[in-house]
Amino acid sequence: MKLFDVYPLFNVEIVKGKGCHVWDSEGNEYLDLYGGHAVISVGHSHPTYVKAITDQVNKLGFYSNSVINSLQQKLADKLGKACGYDDYSLFLINSGAEANENALKLASFHNGKKRVIAFKHSFHGRTSAAVRVTDNPKIIAPVNEDLAVTYVPLNDSVIVEDELRKGDVSSVIIEGIQGVGGIQVPTDHFMRELRELCTRYGACLIVDEIQSGYGRSGKFFAHQYAGIQPDLITVAKGIANGFPMGGLLISPMFKPVYGMLGTTFGGNHLACAAAIAVLDIMEGEGLIDNAAKVGTFLLKELHQLPGIKEIRGRGLMIGVEFEESIKEIRTRLLFEERVFTGVAGTNTIRLLPPLCLSMEEAADFMDRFKKVLGA
Ligand SMILES: Cc1ncc(COP(=O)(O)O)c(C=O)c1O
Repeated sequence: MKLFDVYPLFNVEIVKGKGCHVWDSEGNEYLDLYGGHAVISVGHSHPTYVKAITDQVNKLGFYSNSVINSLQQKLADKLGKACGYDDYSLFLINSGAEANENALKLASFHNGKKRVIAFKHSFHGRTSAAVRVTDNPKIIAPVNEDLAVTYVPLNDSVIVEDELRKGDVSSVIIEGIQGVGGIQVPTDHFMRELRELCTRYGACLIVDEIQSGYGRSGKFFAHQYAGIQPDLITVAKGIANGFPMGGLLISPMFKPVYGMLGTTFGGNHLACAAAIAVLDIMEGEGLIDNAAKVGTFLLKELHQLPGIKEIRGRGLMIGVEFEESIKEIRTRLLFEERVFTGVAGTNTIRLLPPLCLSMEEAADFMDRFKKVLGA
């Protein structure tokens, strides 16, 4: 059987990781400024993380959601404390798309409305409702088209209000910081306006923190820079450092009903063990403060470089936009300087390293980046 060929691949196989470094099958070492697509939060193969998963699988890997799994409550307690939402409830699933899918459903169950407002250049995943609120017609199949969605520009509260005034909007979904859209940061002022408008017009505010959350922005959630509280918050990626998991944080205004949401694998024992270890490591090693500190250093250093169109981001979620395609820069970074980076569109390099990136590693990255740019 062949693999269904949907990914254009770099000719590299990564077989080992440690901290912010990975190794390929030929023994070459790379600096990881990509974090396997913003997934590696506490670093590759952290000993606490490895031990937690190993111990758990030796005891029990999986049992169903029809019986008590106290690891889920342990995770909810720790997460509530870590992010400041201890009065919210947690629903656990397996991916970011599923988290958004359930958030959109829950909003609609709650207020009985159907239309969703999403933002231009948004990305929310590839399942039915999540892909429909993603602003990319190429990945929306005909079967996904029926959900009514209106895409509006980021940071334009007048247009948002014009839509909300029509009275049929169930939810507004926005990324804490747009990732796939090229690290576009909504202004704090706009986030506050959005919060106020959703409350005024009876729409639920969903903030997708799948890429920007879990400490990546230098705060637990990127929306916390604006001092707001969404009704629903979605998380995935960094939550379990690569073990597949997603979560939906639900405000107390939503009332659960047996059977309204459900999943086979969501919140399984292994995923919970991984996610609990991630929070323990993040707290023990001060990784959110580290993301803020090293991110500030990187932003400052990047601003010294010539020939760059724009630099955007917060913490360790940084976009470096060039006037021209970055294909060659990214390829040279990978094969000549052995640095993994991400990309957004054709002209933006995305930096999404593990949150444990040290100042020395950040400086090392800058040296290698300058070599490629000839700066
Ligand atoms: C902001 C955002 N939302 C949702 C998703 C989808 O997550 P997953 O691929 O885990 O379904 C992603 C993935 O890149 C994302 O960046």
